[in-house]
Amino acid sequence: GNGLRHRAHASGLKIGAAAQPTALAGNEGYRTVLSREFDSVTSENQLKWDIIEPSRGLFDWSSADALIGFAEANGQSVRGHTLVWHDALPGWLANGSFSPEELRNLLRDHIHAVVGRYKGRVDAWDVVNEAVADNGGRLRRSPWMDALGPGYIADALRWAHEADPAARLYINDYAVEAANMKSDALYNIAAGLRRDGVPLHGVGFQSHLALGADLTTLGANLRRFADLGLDVAITEMDVRLPLPATAAQHAEQADLYTRVLQACLAVERCVSYTVWGFTDRYSWVPYAYPGWGDACLFDGDYQPKPAYLQLRRML
Ligand code: XIL
Repeated sequence: GNGLRHRAHASGLKIGAAAQPTALAGNEGYRTVLSREFDSVTSENQLKWDIIEPSRGLFDWSSADALIGFAEANGQSVRGHTLVWHDALPGWLANGSFSPEELRNLLRDHIHAVVGRYKGRVDAWDVVNEAVADNGGRLRRSPWMDALGPGYIADALRWAHEADPAARLYINDYAVEAANMKSDALYNIAAGLRRDGVPLHGVGFQSHLALGADLTTLGANLRRFADLGLDVAITEMDVRLPLPATAAQHAEQADLYTRVLQACLAVERCVSYTVWGFTDRYSWVPYAYPGWGDACLFDGDYQPKPAYLQLRRML
């Protein structure tokens, strides 16, 4: 094989991609590139609560099963995304009126059910996603924070650990790549969890970047988390461009992809480098950021872009 996964293999670094259920089910070209290039896959949506339990007590595991089955058939490890988040909650949960005690039981049962079902088959879990608020470094308001207080993070990690003691458990967030107020807050949370003996094994840096992102402090930032005794991972990398993008912008995009890989390779405990979708055909970016796109390593026809070629040369 000659994909990114094979070139990175000697370094021990996993090269991953988030995968979309519809694409995986319906598109041969998509499956070919996903298996050829990547040795880790992340469930882009398949394991979110609204997909798994659309009505209370009615579970639909089909797309998660399909993704994990695909990964096993192709010798890929799996990053499970995500167990506790303020977003992608099913309506019955988001709009229901539950007491704090009921919410605590719902969350514990959810984590036990999902992690337990895939015990031994999911290598790493984004247990808590986007817990830190954007301004001021406080914890974000959410049904979990509002009802259970900050202790929900440690509880969630402990419940996940009960259900699969071998899984690597992460907290994951965005806009924490540089040393800044938000990453300081995340650092303090991680340090506190470690100090208290909570089963936290890693921190995920989403890395949804735009042109001009300042990466000067990325390396030092990754290292300070690693120095807590944690793995670190790039979990959701993409680099959005204003549409239509120019050749110069594609070159700048390639540099950002490469510099993040370089920073990860320089930190021994940086264990994986995952892109949030590998083809512009299915990227979330044009929906989340109207007027932006072209954010992935491959274009909509699975042709490699400069960013892909530059990553390949580096590995
Ligand atoms: C996004 C998916 O890519 C979209 O398909 C979905 O409609 C919304 O969620 N940070 C995260 C991911 O942690 O779960 C988000 O994924 C992107 C931002």
